[in-house]
Amino acid sequence: MTHASHSPRTSDDWHENGYDLARGLAAYSGSTLVAGIAKVIAKHPEANIANAFNHKQVLCKLWARDELLTSAGSDYGRIVVLGGWYGILPAMLLEDRRFTIAAIDSFDIDPAVEQVALTLNAGFGDRFRAVTADMYQIDYRGLDADLVINTSCEHIADLGAWLGLLPSGTRVLLQSNDYFSEPTHINCVSSLEEFQAKAGLSRVDFAGALPMKKYTRFMLIGTV
Ligand SMILES: C[S@@+](CC[C@H](N)C(=O)[O-])C[C@H]1O[C@@H](n2cnc3c(N)ncnc32)[C@H](O)[C@@H]1O
Repeated sequence: MTHASHSPRTSDDWHENGYDLARGLAAYSGSTLVAGIAKVIAKHPEANIANAFNHKQVLCKLWARDELLTSAGSDYGRIVVLGGWYGILPAMLLEDRRFTIAAIDSFDIDPAVEQVALTLNAGFGDRFRAVTADMYQIDYRGLDADLVINTSCEHIADLGAWLGLLPSGTRVLLQSNDYFSEPTHINCVSSLEEFQAKAGLSRVDFAGALPMKKYTRFMLIGTV
């Protein structure tokens, strides 16, 4: 008879083991974000949290966080994240003690991600808000944001048209990539130069490329 530990893993095992492991990692590290991931595994088994928190996604967001600190500083009243998915980047920013951030609002067009993002960020209380909305339909003047983040530029049809909705002088952090083969990527760019041209920022404080195994991620920090 096969020993239980060698039997094929079912998806139920995955969730049970993932939950146990994430809770242990949260206890060990004291991380509010990792505690949030454990809660998501338990409460939203349908969420693809392993994809959102895979090491490449995390590396790209660590890069964003570090360059933001260097290029734009540490103090923010309200940060607005567009295409915020499960709210991983807001959690990474809210838990980083190098920053002082009063509040982060995460907007996403997919109604299925709102509750997951709220669960993930529950430990940050009312400093985090998740809203279901199309980023092309938001009144940005009313948001009073001192930083607008969009790391999902490869997912939106017209980057220039969206940036045109932001009040001029708004500080932004943008990421895109050249991962053309992923079907949900409807607007990749081939190079950092192409990304800069499409964004047309009035001021650029940082422009860089981060090569990953299958694609390169591009980032701009500046002002519209
Ligand atoms: C796969 S995720 C994010 C991937 C990205 N690399 C990251 O982690 O930042 C892209 C998100 O953009 C959202 N999205 C796409 N079009 C949008 C729109 N018009 N308004 C708001 N959110 C949008 C999708 O629903 C999805 O949750």
